[in-house]
Amino acid sequence: MTGGMRAAAVREVGSPPLFGTFAYPDRATTVPPRFPIEHGDAPARPPSERASSLVAVTCAALNPIDLHVASGGFFQGPPQVPYVPGVEGVGRVLESDHLPAGTRVRFELGHPGYGGNGALAEQVVVDDESMVELPASVADDDAAALGVAGITAARALDLADLGAGEGVLVLGATGAVGAVAVQLARLRGAGRVVAAGRNPEQLRRAVAVLGADAAVELDGRSVADLAAAFREAAGGGVDVVVDPLWGEPAVAALAAGNLGVRLVNVGQAAGTSVEMPSVPLRGHRAVVRAISTAMDDLSLRRERYSEVLGHLAAGRLLVDHVTRPLEDVAEAWAAQASSPGRRLLLRVRPDSG
Ligand SMILES: NC(=O)c1ccc[n+]([C@@H]2O[C@H](COP(=O)([O-])OP(=O)(O)OC[C@H]3O[C@@H](n4cnc5c(N)ncnc54)[C@H](OP(=O)(O)O)[C@@H]3O)[C@@H](O)[C@H]2O)c1
Repeated sequence: MTGGMRAAAVREVGSPPLFGTFAYPDRATTVPPRFPIEHGDAPARPPSERASSLVAVTCAALNPIDLHVASGGFFQGPPQVPYVPGVEGVGRVLESDHLPAGTRVRFELGHPGYGGNGALAEQVVVDDESMVELPASVADDDAAALGVAGITAARALDLADLGAGEGVLVLGATGAVGAVAVQLARLRGAGRVVAAGRNPEQLRRAVAVLGADAAVELDGRSVADLAAAFREAAGGGVDVVVDPLWGEPAVAALAAGNLGVRLVNVGQAAGTSVEMPSVPLRGHRAVVRAISTAMDDLSLRRERYSEVLGHLAAGRLLVDHVTRPLEDVAEAWAAQASSPGRRLLLRVRPDSG
């Protein structure tokens, strides 16, 4: 292939990325997509304060945010096409002022599509602060699959202020973020952990493999019935809810809360808005928090990634994933749109392990 590097690029807003070629990035002139992203009160750092490295990508992960940005529906507005999507990946350092060439790293980027490019390409320029050196014992695929899912689960549990022995309900436990949240809640000393989701096979796996104590299927039952099922599965009520769904499951989760229940919302897979009655909120002295982890500093993100990486390296945590060649990006994109039940990865370099 001539005329550039192998890459997947979104060429039209609202269309999936297409495999082809894209211009190689030049480290001297490329500014990686910004972290933390600029909204709310998040402080922005000028490009001059950010050291960057050139990385040869071996493996990149697809996340719901990649599809959201490409659709044009993200709050930052339609992306500037063409661009290479992909907020995270694993690769080998090619050029850097801080790490020797060849160092194997996990890296991440702010949101590509707003003046910067992402991980679905042979080479990418990344913020030095985003890179975490990987131990030899962790495979590229595992390290790539763990990233955003692990960081998000960890930050949700941070903000919930999970205490030892407290009951945790994980909504969307059938997805990547939820699956890590189930395992990490257990590792951080939770009491009973309840997994909730639609996919019955993944729910069984959450109990049999990930360590959940019970599962509740989100099968369209009423909010009152769902709340009763949550309470029963939790053996009374729940103290902490990790919520990538919003919608009616979040309402039912709060109705199943113990006094002082904390719900941390990280996504809206089950609905962008919902009628939230006041009584269960007041009656349970509920606290509802919400996060966009892209507003977190890279140092904090690196810390949380290192925490989950340590668990993964020790065999205490896993992230289900399936890896396809970069050439199959359009098919992987379509699969991600319909809740694949595992993290979808794209192998960028055909010869990598
Ligand atoms: N705030 C942040 O910083 C942040 C970071 C990462 C992710 N997120 C958000 O968190 C959510 C989950 O991310 P992920 O990476 O885990 O995605 P994922 O692996 O694709 O999982 C999607 C999850 O959403 C569930 N789901 C989808 N549509 C649903 C519906 N209509 N009703 C009920 N459940 C539904 C799926 O359930 P089934 O598989 O059982 O159908 C699955 O559990 C996404 O909305 C994502 O944008 C936010």
